Amino acid sequence: MKSQGITKVTVNTLAKMKAEHRKISMLTAYDASFARLIDQAGAGVILVGDSLGMVVQGGGNTLPVTMEEMIYHCRSVGRGTERAQVVGDMPFMSYQASLEDGIRNAGRLVKEGGVEAVKLEGGAEYAELASRLSKIGIPVMGHIGLTPQSLHSMGGFKVQGRSETQAKKIVDDARALEQAGCYAIVLEGIPRELATEITDALTIPTIGIGAGPHCDGQVLVIYDLLGMNEEFRPKFVKRYDNLAVRIRTAVEQYITEVRTGEFPDDEHSFSKDVPVRPESATPYGSAKVAAGGTFERDPDASGAACIPLPLPTRK
Ligand code: KIV
Repeated sequence: MKSQGITKVTVNTLAKMKAEHRKISMLTAYDASFARLIDQAGAGVILVGDSLGMVVQGGGNTLPVTMEEMIYHCRSVGRGTERAQVVGDMPFMSYQASLEDGIRNAGRLVKEGGVEAVKLEGGAEYAELASRLSKIGIPVMGHIGLTPQSLHSMGGFKVQGRSETQAKKIVDDARALEQAGCYAIVLEGIPRELATEITDALTIPTIGIGAGPHCDGQVLVIYDLLGMNEEFRPKFVKRYDNLAVRIRTAVEQYITEVRTGEFPDDEHSFSKDVPVRPESATPYGSAKVAAGGTFERDPDASGAACIPLPLPTRK
């Protein structure tokens, strides 16, 4: 699929990548700014994960995340993404109670959230839902192994599939989801040997997180990859930066400069005599401005510092 010279990643692209033994990179994003950077860097898939309940909302698990919150974040990510496939997570209890719930809520993620596929946790028990959605035209990414929405029945966030019985169930689940029409499956928190077996057995791509190197692709939570949370150091996460330190350092420097009066200096202040370029007066960096699009927030290109807001009247 092409729009304005950009070839969009689709289910077909991902199938072709598996066939050609090219690895798929998937990352989570929850807003337009991160989505834009991840997209520009070339990730194939952006997942609006319900992990937002933990990394954005600060909760201890993903269970409280609602459909409304998912739709809001999916829409934001969509605005920042041009090339990657955008996948939206079905949050806890948006599909578990009935087939109808699952169909309606997956439809909402596509219609209102603008995603191009949905992801749902669980195995063979959701094969019928996956099949109905695929037939409707909603691509489904499965998610098996360590499924965080089942945290209480797993007894915590624990590696799955170490026993033979568990491993067999995970393989059966993978086959059932493929049969049902899933176009890809996330394998989370399982031994690498099991992930290899599943990857070899399926024709659809597997995307691993804590599932070893032999999956067809890998996914990480973007905040983990960037080292935003110093306390969170699970074995499967590789930190490619230490943004916790870098962000704190930058903010400390800003605070110091505000305190000392070093910021704002002449370079970062407007003067009544010198005209400014319209984008340099736009309040807040918007994805569209950064991408060279329209300056939505500054209809007045005369150089006004910001759109004047009415002052609250005192009674
Ligand atoms: O919610 C999420 O971010 C996920 C990925 C970690 C696979 O499900």
